[in-house]
Amino acid sequence: MSFWDKIIFGSDTSAFSRFTEGRKVFAIIDRNVERLYGTLFPYEKIVIDATEENKTFDGAISVIDSLLEKNADRDCLLLGIGGGITTDLTGFVASIYKRGVEYGLVPTTLLAQTDAAIGGKTAVNVSRIKNVAGTFGNPAFVFINPGFIKTLSGEELNSGIFEMLKIFIIGNREYYYRTLDLLLDGGFIDEYVIKAAVRLKCDITDEDYTEHGRRKLLNLGHTFAHAIESASGWKISHGEAVAIGIVLAARLGEKYSVTPAGLAKTLLKDFRSAGLSVPEFTNSDALVNALYNDKKRDGDKILFVVPRSVGDVTFLPVSANDINGSFFDVKDLL
Ligand SMILES: NC(=O)c1ccc[n+]([C@@H]2O[C@H](COP(=O)([O-])OP(=O)(O)OC[C@H]3O[C@@H](n4cnc5c(N)ncnc54)[C@H](O)[C@@H]3O)[C@@H](O)[C@H]2O)c1
Repeated sequence: MSFWDKIIFGSDTSAFSRFTEGRKVFAIIDRNVERLYGTLFPYEKIVIDATEENKTFDGAISVIDSLLEKNADRDCLLLGIGGGITTDLTGFVASIYKRGVEYGLVPTTLLAQTDAAIGGKTAVNVSRIKNVAGTFGNPAFVFINPGFIKTLSGEELNSGIFEMLKIFIIGNREYYYRTLDLLLDGGFIDEYVIKAAVRLKCDITDEDYTEHGRRKLLNLGHTFAHAIESASGWKISHGEAVAIGIVLAARLGEKYSVTPAGLAKTLLKDFRSAGLSVPEFTNSDALVNALYNDKKRDGDKILFVVPRSVGDVTFLPVSANDINGSFFDVKDLL
């Protein structure tokens, strides 16, 4: 079964009632989402604060304690309602509680609708290392209501937009330009764009569920982005870091003649028109150290993903020593 077959688009929560009727449902719901949309979900609730500190073993134990208090048995359904923090944590708890219970997801951020809730990866952070523990375990369904994203802050929306542009650079040129045009016209991300992004992520994860090959392409821009986020002390948002990371991946590809000359500059121009503000990079040593400590490093080499064009990417192993601090400064591309 393709992951795509688990996706239910709509605005009426009765669309997933066949999974909830006649059984105990426990909603693990983000506190902000509960405040905004709680009345749509008339289930027993475990309300969580969506922070990376709570997406941990301690956070999972706290949810499990609540499930035990509520006498949740193996036949219950867990429903994760919120952004990627909530969907990752719910999936993780569902895969270990009483050796596994069924779960459904209602992602409410653009990033969770198009990325985090798709593909069956669950995760928690350990010792401040993100997503270092987790499981593969598919939800029974994912309910996507694009209307939820209307209440996101600008920064949260941008995170989703840049991740979506990333997936289109990986494999859907038409929708890359369609999304840019929509944003330039002042339009809002619509259901068609979300569907195209979800479809592409499903296709990639169906083909390589456990991430030994093609699924790694989804890391486009992320090796640089993690270095940028951590060197900035997490002051630069994930969305901005991913956007700059994609530009740097293109610059790297150009340096090794895999990416056509000029693509890094064009992508930066596109992203700025989509709302990216280019951050100041001051601590170049921290950037290079963060890159060198990347968990995907294999010996001296880091496996980067670089674009061959918009809609086509490939792997490029590069020695971490080949990248110095000034490589990160994209001002010359402005
Ligand atoms: N499992 C995967 O494959 C995968 C993929 C990508 C990202 N992730 C994970 O996803 C997480 C990030 O997800 P995120 O960006 O959704 O963050 P998040 O869950 O922290 O949500 C972002 C913020 O938006 C708020 N929010 C959620 N829905 C809202 C709504 N409809 N209206 C207003 N506010 C709303 C939340 O309360 C929170 O403050 C990270 O932990 C990342 O590791 C997982």
